[in-house]
Amino acid sequence: MNKTIAFIGAGNMAEALIRGLLSAKTVKPEQIAATDVRPERLEQLHRTYGIHTSADNAKAAAKADVIVLAVKPQQMTNVLSSLHFPLPALVVSIAAGVPTARIERELGGEPRVVRTMPNTPALVGAGAAALCRGRFATEADLVAAETILGAVGVVVRTDEQHLDAVTALSGSGPAYIFYMAEAMIAAGVEAGLSEDVAKRLAVQTVFGAGKLLAESGELPQELRRKVTSPGGTTEAALKVKMERGFAKIVAEAIHAAARRSRELSGN
Ligand SMILES: NC(=O)c1ccc[n+]([C@@H]2O[C@H](COP(=O)([O-])OP(=O)(O)OC[C@H]3O[C@@H](n4cnc5c(N)ncnc54)[C@H](OP(=O)(O)O)[C@@H]3O)[C@@H](O)[C@H]2O)c1
Repeated sequence: MNKTIAFIGAGNMAEALIRGLLSAKTVKPEQIAATDVRPERLEQLHRTYGIHTSADNAKAAAKADVIVLAVKPQQMTNVLSSLHFPLPALVVSIAAGVPTARIERELGGEPRVVRTMPNTPALVGAGAAALCRGRFATEADLVAAETILGAVGVVVRTDEQHLDAVTALSGSGPAYIFYMAEAMIAAGVEAGLSEDVAKRLAVQTVFGAGKLLAESGELPQELRRKVTSPGGTTEAALKVKMERGFAKIVAEAIHAAARRSRELSGN
């Protein structure tokens, strides 16, 4: 990618993207700039990755081809007002629940905005992100945003109206799996395993099942059938889950998250 990228806000997600972009050699360190309000954070990122750092959002944004807005949603108004109109760069926002129309309005003019919803496995290069374009962004802008988010995982396109569902499924999704791992560990301990053994087995089972699902190309229901022999142990476990309405609980949880996402983003 022969573009310069400025990260406005140099927290966890910005660092994950910077690390991903550099290790995939998508860009060189000199093509990346990061700004933040914490000087020690900037110093650390400069030392670790050799990227440009500064405390001046407007200056960094003015020099960049792509600006990645990577601050917390509640910091967004502050940040947008620190950027000077007109902004020729593509603006990629990773802030949860901040609509493209609001970013466009607060920036002024006709800024090219792409909004994305990543998730925390991006921190280990295994993220799942969806992205959508604002009113003025082009196909080339979507491709550029896909390249950036693609450095830390899988990227899909969607309409903005579906981002609340994305937030509910993959944005909050890692926590559903963590909760299941917690429950598996607790049950393993109840069944007589030590905490350490239960934890190591549960963690690797979640990891291995995810890897198998991602790499085999098979549907989850096919993989489930393969490990469920009639009259066997897996069948006994799944019978309990089905009788207790596991799928309904998962659906209700995801609908609740989508409703909350709509409330938070004012949709
Ligand atoms: N983490 C996730 O899993 C995840 C998943 C999906 C989406 N997101 C979205 O990604 C965005 C970033 O999340 P994060 O976890 O990386 O947050 P973070 O670690 O808090 O990073 C934001 C950074 O921006 C700095 N900042 C605050 N005001 C600023 C300003 N005016 N100019 C420049 N920098 C400023 C913050 O400093 P202070 O700490 O001093 O405020 C902090 O260092 C959020 O909008 C979030 O919704 C995160």
